[in-house]
Amino acid sequence: MSKTSRRETLLGLGLGLTGTLCLPETGIAKGRRVLKAGAAATADTPSAEIGIQILEAGGNAVDAAVAIGFALAVSYPEAGNIGGGGFMTLVIQGKPYFLDYRETAPAKAKADMYLNAEGNVRPGSTVIGNLAAGTPGTVAGLYAAHRRFGRLPWARVVGPAIGLAREGFTPPAQMIRIYQEAFADLGRDTNLGSYFGTMTEGKIFTQPDLANTLEAIAQRGPSAFYQGRVATQIVAQMSRGVEKGLISLADLEAYRPVWRAALTSKWRGYEVVSAPPPSSGGIALLQLLGMKEARSDLFAGVAHNSAQYIHLLAELEKRVFADRAVYLGDPDFVQVPVSRLLDADYIKARAESVQAEFPSPTERIRPGLEKPQTTHYSVVDADGNAVSNTYTVNGWYGSGVVVEGAGFLLNNEMDDFSAKPGVANQFGVVGGDANAIQPFKRPLSSMTPTILTKNGVPAMVLGSPGGSRIITTVFQVLLNALDYKMPLKAAVDALRYHHQLLPENTIYTEPYAPAPADLKQELERRTYRIEAQSFNGDMAAIQVRNGEPLVAPDPRARGAARITRH
Ligand code: GLY
Repeated sequence: MSKTSRRETLLGLGLGLTGTLCLPETGIAKGRRVLKAGAAATADTPSAEIGIQILEAGGNAVDAAVAIGFALAVSYPEAGNIGGGGFMTLVIQGKPYFLDYRETAPAKAKADMYLNAEGNVRPGSTVIGNLAAGTPGTVAGLYAAHRRFGRLPWARVVGPAIGLAREGFTPPAQMIRIYQEAFADLGRDTNLGSYFGTMTEGKIFTQPDLANTLEAIAQRGPSAFYQGRVATQIVAQMSRGVEKGLISLADLEAYRPVWRAALTSKWRGYEVVSAPPPSSGGIALLQLLGMKEARSDLFAGVAHNSAQYIHLLAELEKRVFADRAVYLGDPDFVQVPVSRLLDADYIKARAESVQAEFPSPTERIRPGLEKPQTTHYSVVDADGNAVSNTYTVNGWYGSGVVVEGAGFLLNNEMDDFSAKPGVANQFGVVGGDANAIQPFKRPLSSMTPTILTKNGVPAMVLGSPGGSRIITTVFQVLLNALDYKMPLKAAVDALRYHHQLLPENTIYTEPYAPAPADLKQELERRTYRIEAQSFNGDMAAIQVRNGEPLVAPDPRARGAARITRH
């Protein structure tokens, strides 16, 4: 890391060199009104309402985003978190920013740490229990965003989540179902059940340990998490359970979020602002948009979601996922050829080999594939600031490990590394050396928090959970809304199809609605295999038309969105 970026990250975390908390600087001043309203699109109702309360209390989009992040850690424990990490794309006063608060591999992590004596990945070791957890980045990340751009006091934006944890909320049926599925996978080898097993539909669920942790964070900032009682509780947790973990006090103290240059590109008169490495999401999205543009000849007159359309998207996706598997990793550890991957001539040349009717033969390059969970939210304020935030504990309920006494779940983000470079592990995770495990390295991600602007004013703020499906979800909803000019609700509701190079010529459909029989037949005639998958994203989008924010929660999950004219 360069001296400058290290200094920036220290300031961003709000820790002086001695590790003591500095008082937050006041963020950006109130600007002139640019939009007719503010809006928050999130994964559930409690967090959307908290976001709007913060906007109505005079907070800006960053204040609301931070409050939503902490609220989801309470009301959406399957993916909302303080024990994971994420990415935040921002447009503040017309300028793009990107904050990387992805988890890092602990200092003691080794490339072969998940392999048995025969050199095979030990079943479950990358996803279940302590060893699956990377050093969490969320608390430091939310604090860094607030310190740089927030307007309300820190304690004010953390406050609503404390209330939600202490007073509780009523878990909806969908949440209980996801918990039961996660428990079947993780419960036997972790303490997941002892914290969440009492959740009952229709009965208030409180989290007093988590409330105390959040209260300490509200009072003392990230040092209440990365040092002292909570840090000690995290480290103590590492030595409990079946798999011992690696996170140490030194790892926690060393954790720093990083402000990176956002990826930006022009597309159809918009400026697209998205996630740079260690996410693959922004590069993939820009390559997809660029290739589609380059082959507008093939797309001319093709009906949306017809067999021909799905085939052409799969052809683009095949090429993007092939690049992803080989070139992408943490830019602080490997050289990612970003400008070459986004070069217009390169994208054009890649698109030239797209086959008009049948799939191109699958090359032997293998794609990456993460756990399909995570969560996303989007916020705009009336001043025209926008935040697109995707954060994650990786799988639903992360590693299944709750930090005892502190009441929050640890991630299993180590599974996003290639546990054995070049060879698919049991979860289908494949990748090259660029994404091999190294101490302090960030695992490759597909998270794609994205903002489109016109003349610096947000036109669309969007993102989704879904592992590798995130990329194709964001791509398709963008095309639906802006290329095919569908109303936002239709753009979000429309069936989504997913292809990612491997498994060979496989197109995934979704549980939300079956693919029409004749479409399936036509794709099969073209030698595609159609496979149903259990999850295909949960879009949280805000579109702005004539200064008016429009929202349309994804019917696939329990997303919620609110607008305020305050
Ligand atoms: N853990 C999902 C992702 O980072 O893409």
